[in-house]
Amino acid sequence: MNTKNFRRTLVTSALPYANGPIHLGHLAGAYLHADIFVRFKRLKQEVVLFICGSDEHGVPITLTAEEEGVSPKVIIDRYHEMNLKAFEDFGISFDNYSRTSLTIHHKTAQEFFLKYYQNGILKQKKEFQFFDEKAKMFLPDRYIVGTCPHCGSNDARGDQCESCGSYLNSTELINPKSKVTGETPVLKETVHWYFPLGDYQTRLQKYIEEKNKQEGWKENVLNYCKNWFDEGLQDRAITRDLDWGVKVPLKDNENKVLYVWFEAVLGYISSTKEWAEKKNQPDEWKKYWLDSETKYIAFIGKDNIVFHCIVFPAMLMAWNDLSEEKYILPDNVPANEFLNYEGLKFSKSRGWGIYLKDFLEHFPPDPLRYYLASILPENRDADFYWRDFQAKNNNELADILGNFVNRTLTFTEKHFNSMVPEAASLNEIDRQLLVQIPQFKVRIEQLFEKIKIKDAVNEIMNLARLGNKYFNDSQPWKTINENRESCATTINLSIQLIRTLAVMFSPIIPFTAEKIFSMLNISDESLKLWDGSAEPKIPVGHKIGKPTILFTKIDDKLIEPFLNSQEKEEISKMKINRKTITVDDFKRVEIKIAKVIGCEKVKNSKKLLKLQVDLGDENRQVIAGLAEFYEPGELVGKKVLLVSNLNELKLMDEISQGMVLTVEDENKKLKIITVDESLPIGCLLK
Ligand code: 2FM
Ligand code: ZN
Repeated sequence: MNTKNFRRTLVTSALPYANGPIHLGHLAGAYLHADIFVRFKRLKQEVVLFICGSDEHGVPITLTAEEEGVSPKVIIDRYHEMNLKAFEDFGISFDNYSRTSLTIHHKTAQEFFLKYYQNGILKQKKEFQFFDEKAKMFLPDRYIVGTCPHCGSNDARGDQCESCGSYLNSTELINPKSKVTGETPVLKETVHWYFPLGDYQTRLQKYIEEKNKQEGWKENVLNYCKNWFDEGLQDRAITRDLDWGVKVPLKDNENKVLYVWFEAVLGYISSTKEWAEKKNQPDEWKKYWLDSETKYIAFIGKDNIVFHCIVFPAMLMAWNDLSEEKYILPDNVPANEFLNYEGLKFSKSRGWGIYLKDFLEHFPPDPLRYYLASILPENRDADFYWRDFQAKNNNELADILGNFVNRTLTFTEKHFNSMVPEAASLNEIDRQLLVQIPQFKVRIEQLFEKIKIKDAVNEIMNLARLGNKYFNDSQPWKTINENRESCATTINLSIQLIRTLAVMFSPIIPFTAEKIFSMLNISDESLKLWDGSAEPKIPVGHKIGKPTILFTKIDDKLIEPFLNSQEKEEISKMKINRKTITVDDFKRVEIKIAKVIGCEKVKNSKKLLKLQVDLGDENRQVIAGLAEFYEPGELVGKKVLLVSNLNELKLMDEISQGMVLTVEDENKKLKIITVDESLPIGCLLK
């Protein structure tokens, strides 16, 4: 890894939709580790700016508004305020939390659009889109429901079928209906502007390669981008026919807005501008965005990778080509995987999970910060379990950190009149401790710098463990009578270590760190910094404050209401939602072995293939969404599994008499399930 010296760091976290309350999954995806990283940088007295805000446009917001029968403004005001407060209560220390509905954001996004437009970068394309004649509006994909062409589910959305997970084009839906009026929409011509993403592919690949060399990008992010590059980047429409959003700043386009993802990423810039304006230094934002000595780290969840690693950098490259102002590009995009809740995906629609604001009504923030930080889904999905939360609080925070602080400080109060005693002579155990603390500091610092937050947290807790072991091995309760000088040394070094721990833990559990400083009676801010944190800096004779309990144990009774309601209501709800079936239900599905004897593309469809299959006693025609994954020739001759008693469907004017079974791989590619050559055609699966 080559390292470059930067003067300052810009950190952004994905702008959450102001469409619902923040839940614990969000925190672990893009906010908590960003906050810990930023707090660590501040601790090192580096210049760092932490930017976020609400994403207030987009179809999820207008749909919620319509469902509630209120304006989108009501929705965004409600959730912006709610989320801002929840983040604050949880100690997420943004320097600015803006809103994309602000004029400053609209102006910034329009400026970008116009720069591209006026320089002829954008392509204008005509296309047909569904239009609701009753509501007099073009329908975004999510506003259309219908039957899934792949699995026959009746509530597929225009962009995706939740039952079988297929990504769809709204025009592929069978019997499409408008969500606004329930009417059948008609196809109507419209014009949109496209950003030529493909033109930037080579430069994007080089950019990621270089940044990876400098910063060491995460494997999941690199793989994800590679898949996009392998597929080849395509032009992307950056306008939509809607009224809620940033208006397309061109005459005769009042009914068009910028696509939400196009403008949301620019929200990082407009939020920084707002921050600068609030400080009365309106140009200050430029230091962060237009100076190559700023390092930029964009924290996101894995579902946002393409927009941050490909679309946003391409947009900035395009701007930089056309302007004297040169924006910096993300130096690293450490996308996290997902956090699940009690073994299942968080789901707002299914009521599965817990909102941060509700959590904070029952528990203080630090135990949750500690628990989530110690299991962050940095490399793989992780799970929030109430029992684990309880165990982390009780067995680590209370029994290790809390215990070490408490036993040391109460001992000091009782035997040394609350004064730090002198460490006059060192024995082997003391010397060992003094060697180890700086080594911990070096390791922890490296982990923080590499954004391996989970490992850093666990290493700091190991240092607290070491503190307890030191206390035990030194046996001050004995030496107080037998060797007071040695006892004084133990207590001095333990108090020094408590300060070390308070500093190192402060990015993770900031509220508790402050409590510890106050128990140590430390108000000097220079003693709360990373520099010198491993050194014994508290002078002999310093009077400590009154020790109090740092963490209360979480009793079974406290978490049972969640487990019980979870078990009784939610889990049973989940069971219903997961549509468990009986053996008899399963028997109703007839799956047979079929041989593909012919295959061709369906006319005018990018996704569909027309298969002729032999079932032994009959031949059938099956339309399958496999064209993106297989060339027609590849399938001929294969023995596949066919659901053979599905209702006949019509897809793109073609009859489909069954469904070929497939699996989806980790790259969302469908693969057909083939069977052994020796198995006879037509036989039934049992
Ligand atoms: O996934 C989301 O919640 C999006 N609102 C994230 C946007 S990040 C950036 F583009 F602003
Ligand atoms: Zn489906």
